[in-house]
Order: sequence, then C-alpha cells, then structure tokens
Amino acid sequence: MTLQTLINNQMIKLLNIIGARPQIIKAAAISRAVKNHFSGQIQEYILHTGQHYDQNMSAVFFDELGIPEPHYNLQVGSGTHATQTARITEGVEQVLLQAASEGQPFDGVIVYGDTNSTLAAAIAAAKIHIPVFHIEAGLRSFNMSMPEEVNRIVCDQLSSILFTPTETGLQNLQAEGFAEDGIKQRVRFANGHRPRVILSGDVMYDNSLYFSQIADQKSDIIERLNLQPRGFVLATIHRPANTDNADNLQSIFAALLDIAEQEQIDIVLPLHPRTRKMLPEQLSQALLERIDSTSRFKIIEPASFFEIIRLEKNARVVMTDSGGVQKEAFFFETPCVILRPETEWVEIVEAGAGVIADADYQRILAAYRALAGKHVDFPPLFGDAHASEKILQEILDYLG
Ligand code: UD1
Repeated sequence: MTLQTLINNQMIKLLNIIGARPQIIKAAAISRAVKNHFSGQIQEYILHTGQHYDQNMSAVFFDELGIPEPHYNLQVGSGTHATQTARITEGVEQVLLQAASEGQPFDGVIVYGDTNSTLAAAIAAAKIHIPVFHIEAGLRSFNMSMPEEVNRIVCDQLSSILFTPTETGLQNLQAEGFAEDGIKQRVRFANGHRPRVILSGDVMYDNSLYFSQIADQKSDIIERLNLQPRGFVLATIHRPANTDNADNLQSIFAALLDIAEQEQIDIVLPLHPRTRKMLPEQLSQALLERIDSTSRFKIIEPASFFEIIRLEKNARVVMTDSGGVQKEAFFFETPCVILRPETEWVEIVEAGAGVIADADYQRILAAYRALAGKHVDFPPLFGDAHASEKILQEILDYLG
C-alpha cells in the first residue's frame, strides 16, 4: 500500500488492463470477484487499450459479461508490433502518472496473458515502480517466433506477482529461477519485495463454469445455425503463423473441407478479422470456390462469449490455434485438434484430450479421426473455479 493510501485510509486502487478479446473475458472474472467479495477493500478501474476495436471483438463482451465501462480507453487500434506496443506504453504511463499527480495513485496494475497490451502495460507500470500482477503467468511454448512468447517472457520478468494457472506454469517459472517457496531471491523491486509466483488456478475456468448455464439461456446459436449437438466441428484460426503463411492456411482449409465432405459433418468457423483479411490473399481460387460451394461450411462473424461457449459445449471436436479455445473445449469435455506445432497447455495433450496436428493436412485428418469417436478423460487440471478470489486476496495481502 502506498503511504498516500495509508494516510487517506483509502481502498486499494487497481488498474485492470485489457485490450484484446480474451482479456476482456478474463477481466470479467476479476471484476465479478471484486464486486462480490472485495468491494469494501478494492477500487477497480478498467483501462481498455483499444487493441481490439471492432464491435464483435470488444463491445459485445462488455455487454454480455456485465463488465463496467472502461474508465480509460487509449484507442490505439492496429499497427506493427512496435507501434502498437509503444502507443499503449505511452498511454498507460500517462494514466498512471496523472493519477499519481492528482494524489490518487494506483497501487498496482493487473495484466492478462500475452498480448501486446500485456507487454506494454507491464513496461509502463514497472518503470515507474507500480507493482504488476500478471494473470496467466509462466506459460511457455518455447517458440520465439510467436509474438505472444516474447510478450509473456518479458511481462513475467517485470511482474511482482506471477499468478500461474497450472502446475506446468509453476515448473516453467521454477526453471527460470523461482525457488520452491515461490520467491525469486536474486531480484528486488523498489518496494523491497521480491517477485513471487502463486499457483492460482485459471480465471477462465471460473468464467466458463459461471457463464455456462447463462449461455444456454441467452444464446440460440445452435438452433439458429441448425446444428446437431455433438454433430459438428468448431474451428477457429487466427494465429499469424497460420494466417500469414499461404502453405499453412491452404493445408488447414483443405483438411477442414475434406473432413466436412468425407465425414459428412458441418464445420462452424467464426472468422477472426485477421483471418478474414488474409483468406483472399493466401488461399487458391480453387479452395475459395470450394469453401463457397460447400453447404457444410458455416462461416460466421466472430462469436460472442455466450455463442462460443455453446459451440464449444456442443461440438463433436474443436479444431483451433487459439490457446483459450483449446482450454475451454477441455472445460466442456470436448476433444481438441491443436492447429499449432506446440501448445502451452501440455496437460491437455498428456490427458489425451488434445492432439497436436500443426498445419499439416495428414496430421489434421488423422487427429480428427482419432478423437471424433474416442472416449476421452477430462481430469480437473485448472483449479477449483475460485482462482479470481484467490488472486485478489493475494494482491490485498501483498499491498497491505
Ligand atoms: C491478438 C493477440 C493474441 C490473441 C488474440 C485474440 C498479440 C500479439 N496477439 O492477436 O495473443 O490470442 O489477439 O484475438 O497481441 N483487427 C480488426 N478488428 C479488431 C481487431 C483486430 O480488424 O477489432 C485486425 C487488424 O487488421 C489487426 C489484425 O486484426 O491488424 C490483428 O489484430 P492484433 O491485435 O494485432 O492481433 P490478433 O491477431 O488479434
């Protein structure tokens, strides 16, 4: 707690930083826990960087998940990695400095995951000695060609508390210098504290359980698209390694088309804006025409959270290059083909509920066939659905 906070006997003031679609969803779990359990101790402010800005990539989630309107919106929009990161860093620093100059400084910032918004906010806060609390810390793909891997490694280095969702995350951080007791002894922050890792469980698990029944009531997507429960495939593709590489994108779409036709199964594909932009540039005319003429292929706008939950719950198999969708499929006991060369959620693969197929046509078909009819176990790997409360209590203890 800052001296100012102590003197004024104020509540802890936290800046919850969001920017890309999955962060808005994760922040819902934290906002809900503040409201339900810590409203007398924590004052939460939301800063939206504006990294995602389309209505169906951002605003729709605020409406659905009941997240308060952001207090700050940087509206940075798209750009190269450096441009986007620099704009966010500058904007977050201004907000933090302004609050301090008005005698109402923030006691800490909360950042999520591995996006450019996460990295930029962590840099801005750490440099002016405001503790960074990183939710979803410790994940590693060990693939430095992913921008997300760079973001998460740097953010973890700057964080005061690293909340990791899984045992694997904990082990990754121990391999990077955190001791058995969770402390990194060699590093010290301006407030005298040393970095700490805490195995918190996954806030997305909190959310998925909380919103599962609400989604069943509020979304009619299964009926609207005329889908049969467990009778369709849900596919999502947005990683640059796939969208920006013609060979990879061609293989994935050829595999999806052949699965649809040979297995006589519908494929539902909510289209990320990056993928929408790249499809006409990367796919051959023949593939584009096949996509258009196959009635089994259902391409839709990016799904809302309630819609994606219902699709994940009801799909026979999920095929995705998204980290979040892999995990949500697991929460809803749906097996998953992973369209990447590796995954941060290795436990899902170890449990047999996910198969890594990369963007390889043969491997995608084989993985689909292996998972579609098989009995799969879904052991509890992601905490007890109370990760958000645990995280906020730890932050209070730290700042108090
Ligand atoms: C980002 C994250 C990724 C996360 C994903 C979730 C980084 C480096 N990557 O990827 O970790 O899994 O969000 O969706 O931060 N665009 C729009 N409208 C929008 C948002 C994006 O049209 O509302 C387009 C823009 O042309 C933009 C492109 O999509 O250039 C990519 O957006 P960007 O935020 O750079 O990365 P994502 O691919 O969304």
